[in-house]
Formats: sequence, structure tokens, C-alpha cells
Amino acid sequence: MTESGTSTPPLPHAVRIAGTGSYLPERIMTNQDLERLVETSDEWITSRTGIRERRIAREDEFTSHMASEAARAALAQAGITGSDIDLIIVATITPDTLTPATACYVQQQIGALKAVAFDVSAACSGFLYAMELARHSVGAGAFRNALIIGAEKLSAFVDWSDRNTCVLFGDGAGAAVLVPSTNGGGRILSSQLGTDGAQAELLNIPGGGSACPVGALGAAGTAEKSATLTMQGREVFKHAVNAMRKAAAEGIAAAGLTIQDIDLLIPHQANLRIIDAIVERLDFSREDVFINLDKYGNTSAAAVAIALDEAHREGRIQRGDRILLVAFGAGLTWASAVIEW
Ligand code: COA
Repeated sequence: MTESGTSTPPLPHAVRIAGTGSYLPERIMTNQDLERLVETSDEWITSRTGIRERRIAREDEFTSHMASEAARAALAQAGITGSDIDLIIVATITPDTLTPATACYVQQQIGALKAVAFDVSAACSGFLYAMELARHSVGAGAFRNALIIGAEKLSAFVDWSDRNTCVLFGDGAGAAVLVPSTNGGGRILSSQLGTDGAQAELLNIPGGGSACPVGALGAAGTAEKSATLTMQGREVFKHAVNAMRKAAAEGIAAAGLTIQDIDLLIPHQANLRIIDAIVERLDFSREDVFINLDKYGNTSAAAVAIALDEAHREGRIQRGDRILLVAFGAGLTWASAVIEW
């Protein structure tokens, strides 16, 4: 891994999270359902990943629809409406369309008509990339109220005949509203982002872009050029553990804290074994880790956002708590954020 991680200088204004929201499609696909699709077993999936079930969006339910549902919940909790939002950033690798950005559809769906809207593509780290961009935009005073969303319809990009990948992923969306922090309220303390493009081949969707347009894929496509997700699982696993441990440690240090100061760790929800390895390396208490991947699988950019919202609504986050968010994904990308609630 190259040393491309960045930390960021202090901002004129502190920024806090005023509301969170999430949305999961109704349809549940269990490991037993997958046993009927590919040669796999509930025992294999559970013991290798910790995943028991995932949600699958309807055919007519797109990434923007899930993003907008999550956004509405976050806006309601923040006590504002779409018309109060100046900036929308959607993190996704499964946009409704290659262009325009999914954020543009969300802008219309939630009536945020004065908002600037665009997407970021940083895979599973995308929500934290969006958070950092929005924190700077609000903290510098360029925008007042920002909406960040992680949303994915991975079921549309998974090869349902490939047991190496199809058992891992699911659909969903999570959102947060970022506003200036006044009167000593909570604030985002630090953030670390990193990228290593040398490892781009480890996890990608090779077809469907300009390097291999859909029209050139042919009827069947090929393993190298399919428009579905491909992954070198073991390599990704090793990088994920190293990158998330490093991003977490650097994020905590940048916030001027130690691991003992963290009340709750919300890691990317890809694999329970990856989470356990990080927790062990950080010497962190397993009870203080929020895990929901058993219910949803890996929802990429949505995963940390959904987990943050669930942890918040379940009362796992109290005023004054320090929360560590950490993620890793295709790119390769990684990111962490430390928040004082
Ligand atoms: N059911 C049953 N067997 C399966 C299977 C499935 N769904 N998927 C793979 N296997 C098989 C493999 O074919 C292999 O068989 P072989 O030894 O005969 O070739 C065997 O199980 C072991 O595969 P291996 O790759 O060693 O398993 P693993 O312990 O590394 O676990 C992953 C595989 C994918 C779960 C693991 O590598 C992983 O989680 N990697 C990271 C993935 C990830 O998080 N990606 C997103 C990052 S944001």
C-alpha cells in the first residue's frame, strides 16, 4: 500500500451531524435462498463472513429511490426539509445512470431544488469521502446545510452465478445531514482519506465504462470484461485489515485522542473476520463495535451510513460520545472519521 493517506487542516467552523436516516428494501434474501442459486451453504457463508441475510431492491426500485428514502429520514430527524439543503453528495458505485449523477435524481425526489448535487465514486469508503467533502464545504462557510448519502443497488451488478461474490453483497441506503456546530454542540473531530490505484484490479466492475462499453461486451461478455463485480477475495481481505487498522489509528491520533477515548467503533460491514482482525490489532473492546452485516451483507457505500443511523436510533450513541467510523473499498480506497456526538 502506498502512503497516499491525507489528513486535513482545521476549518473556520466546526461541523456536526444534525440527523441520520437509512432505508433497506423489503425483500430479504437468506443464505438458504442462495443455496438454491449457487453451490454454497449457510454454514460456509456464516462461518467465512458472518452474513446471514441481505436485502434486495425491487426491479423498479433504483439507487436514487433508496437514497431519497434515507435522506427523508435524516432530514426529519434534523428538523429541516429538502428546501433547506444547499449541497447533496451521493456516494455510490451503482448509480441509476452513468450520467447524470444519482444526486441529481435525489435533488428532485426530495425537493431540494436549490441544492448543488453530485456523486462521488469511492466504493465502500464513499460515505466517508462524502462526509469529508461536505465537512469542508460547510466548515469553510461555502454551504450551510449538506446532505450526504451512501446508496447502492449492488444486486444489479452482481453475477448471480458466481458464488465467490454473490453471497457477499446487498442493497440499501444511509444518509446524514451536516450543519455548522454552534454553542459547543457535537462536531466531526478528524478525518483521514487514502487511495492506492495500483491495486485497482483487485476489486472492480471492468465492463460498462469507456474502457469497455456495454455495446462491446457481446451477448455473454467474458470474465475479464463483464459488467458485473469481480474480486480477488483473499488479497482484498489482507488489504482491508491493514488499511482500516491504519486509517483508524491515524484518525484517532489526528483527533488528539487514544483508542481508550473511543466509545463506539462503526466499521465497514464487509466481513466479520475482517472486523475481528481490526478490533484485535487496535486492542479495542468487541462490545463497543457496532455490527449489522449479519442482516444486510456488504452494502458498499451505504454500509457505514446505515450502521451509523441504526446505532444512533438504537441509543448506542449518546451526546458527548466519541465515535470512530472506518471504511475500506475498491480503488483501493480507505477512510476514517472521528466524531464527538
Ligand atoms: N460457498 C462455498 N464455497 C465457496 C464460496 C461459497 N459462497 N465462495 C468461495 N468458495 C470456495 C472457494 O472456491 C474455495 O474453494 P477451493 O479451495 O476449492 O478453490 C474455498 O471456498 C476457499 O476460498 P477462499 O478464497 O480461501 O475463502 P476465504 O476464507 O478467503 O473467504 C471471502 C472468501 C471472499 C469470504 C474472503 O476472502 C473475503 O471476505 N474477502 C474480502 C471480501 C470483501 O470484503 N470484499 C469487499 C471489500 S469492501
